Amino acid sequence: MKRISISIVLLACLVASAAAQSASGVTAYWTDYDVKTNNWDYKAAHVYCAAVDGDKPLEWRSKYGWTGYCASVGPHGEEACGLCLSVTNTETGEKETVRIVDRCGSGGLELDLETAFRPIDSSGNGEAQGHLVVDFEFVDCDAVPVPPPPAGPSESNVTAYWTDYNVKNNNWDYHAAKVSCAAVNGDKPLEWRSKYGWTGFCGNVGPQGKDACGLCLKVTNTATNAEEIVRIVDACGSGGLELDLETAFRPIDTDGKGYPQGHLTVDYEFVDCGDSSQVLVYSQ
Ligand SMILES: *[C@@H]1O[C@H](CO)[C@@H](O)[C@H](O)[C@H]1NC(C)=O
Repeated sequence: MKRISISIVLLACLVASAAAQSASGVTAYWTDYDVKTNNWDYKAAHVYCAAVDGDKPLEWRSKYGWTGYCASVGPHGEEACGLCLSVTNTETGEKETVRIVDRCGSGGLELDLETAFRPIDSSGNGEAQGHLVVDFEFVDCDAVPVPPPPAGPSESNVTAYWTDYNVKNNNWDYHAAKVSCAAVNGDKPLEWRSKYGWTGFCGNVGPQGKDACGLCLKVTNTATNAEEIVRIVDACGSGGLELDLETAFRPIDTDGKGYPQGHLTVDYEFVDCGDSSQVLVYSQ
């Protein structure tokens, strides 16, 4: 019995790692398969996977941008043909799904310039230096993409001061922290109250006052692009946000410059908190 259960655990681990083949900090050069001029034709583009996938329908061949694959993990050669990678530009955080159509010689990936490289090189730095540094993982090509949550009202370049609600010492207790949303959300369970860092909200868009209590914002530090989700627990007086120091300000003050100057400059956007049973209707 014992031996059987151990091998089941081992098998489960193997399956999990096979499903999640990935690599970080990989060099992705660009190449030009002239994909669109070639109407996504593998044979015209002279890609290695033409023998395997060249006769697939146009819809399949053009579903994702193209890449050559020569990283150390995962399948190689013909076995890699047709598989998909989720690729993230580590500089900008941009992400895309691409399909393996070719081999390559060096680095880890060779992204087709037009259909795969430029779409995640919005800063242009990759093209200027000839390559991107990316993270990637093998993904199911046929997975239905999760639709992005509906975007709510947003503002850019807003001042986010810090405040100290002493959240952890107060065990995320709205009443002890004397936040104005205590009357609305103070009796929610701890799991709900502690799900996100806390913020006071005094921005110019979206619900205001008590109507904002409990809603969530995606907040991005414009200096570092660090982002997080926070929950509105309070009103505030000036600026756009008052981020709780420990649970919300420091986590995105990744260069440490916000704290000495007393504030960050952030972009924020109302987003769905992902609380079950909460249905949000955004209005400006
Ligand atoms: C935010 O500030 C940056 C830097 O000053 C500027 O480049 C950008 O255009 C501003 N964005 C908006 C939407 O005002």
